[in-house]
Amino acid sequence: MAVPARVLTNADLEKMVDTNDEWIQSRTGIRERHIANDEESTATLAKDAALNALRVANLNPTEVELIIVSTSSPEHLFPATACLVQDQIGASHAGAFDLSAACSGFIYALNMASQAIRSGSVRNALVIGAETLSRLVNWDDRNTCVLFGDGAGAFVLQAGDEPGGVLSAVMRSDGSGANLLIVPAGGSHLPTSPETILNKQHTIHMNGREVFRFATRVMAQATKEVISAAQLQIEDIQLVIPHQANLRIIEAAMRGLDIPKDQCFINIERYGNTSTASIPIATCEAIQQGRLHTGDNTVFVGFGAGLTWGAALVRWSGPFLPHRHIYPASYRLWVAIRSKLLRMVRRIEGWIWGRNI
Ligand code: ACO
Repeated sequence: MAVPARVLTNADLEKMVDTNDEWIQSRTGIRERHIANDEESTATLAKDAALNALRVANLNPTEVELIIVSTSSPEHLFPATACLVQDQIGASHAGAFDLSAACSGFIYALNMASQAIRSGSVRNALVIGAETLSRLVNWDDRNTCVLFGDGAGAFVLQAGDEPGGVLSAVMRSDGSGANLLIVPAGGSHLPTSPETILNKQHTIHMNGREVFRFATRVMAQATKEVISAAQLQIEDIQLVIPHQANLRIIEAAMRGLDIPKDQCFINIERYGNTSTASIPIATCEAIQQGRLHTGDNTVFVGFGAGLTWGAALVRWSGPFLPHRHIYPASYRLWVAIRSKLLRMVRRIEGWIWGRNI
């Protein structure tokens, strides 16, 4: 995982909008969140998380064949943030694309990468959830600005002989609720103009109550579906790692499932809602805290704009035993030289062929 060092507390927010620590904590469970500085962006956080994941997996970046970056706050509309990560980590044999399914995106991406491995088309995939939603937040809107934070998390998925990995997954959507959580401007429907900027239409607009109602309904339902698809029972699940949007939503879902709170991993108090990054960040912390072990059946479950929701039941099987020691960060110099050389070659080709690149 990778999160910005800068922390924005509820006390800081009290100085920015008409809110207070008591309201934020009691309604959301959030105490503080991490916010990117000017040098940080979705791609830099995604790259740092990717390098950390490769180090844990002992995998050389050139062995990665697929990179999926799930994000709602991409570096640009295009090219895909995944391509920037591919270049910055030196994954010279990887296809790379972004996936947009808001907070459910990491579950969608995990399922896609797992299917690609199962089909035999790739052996090693990097799945990254990365956001800098602070860039899309209206910092004058107390309804939304207290909720979101920045960060990234990444998984390495590998083909293996041991049974495990994603045992079942469900992906669902309901576009009739598209307007409930939306950044209205900046796309083809409403291109950026002085008016859209003046009206703050390029920021997050949310109907919190409706999203809340929807979320409490689908979280438990998707968890049950995914457990039944894997032909398991709730008692077979060691840990649930839900999307960290609101503590009350998580608690309602756990009540609906009759799962004790200590079987559910929660870290929303320190990160806020990091959207698609919340599940991989929570997973990293669950491992660090000894809450997730090799062989555990884990359910990842989330919901988000779209509307989208989904769940994946994973038998946690990593990390594999290291047969060698790879230090992906040590590739940095080589990767930067490689990227510069490729740009130079493109320029020389342009001179030769008379193209203006
Ligand atoms: N500080 C103080 N008061 C506030 C604040 C704030 N930050 N924000 C809203 N209020 C006020 C409202 O104005 C309202 O006042 P009013 O009754 O005078 O109008 C009052 O608090 C209650 O507002 P509600 O909307 O009823 O508050 P609720 O208990 O529903 O909590 C919240 C609001 C936290 C937004 C909740 O609805 C929620 O979490 N919804 C889900 C949001 C979510 O998860 N979004 C992310 C989806 S994931 C993704 O795709 C990015």
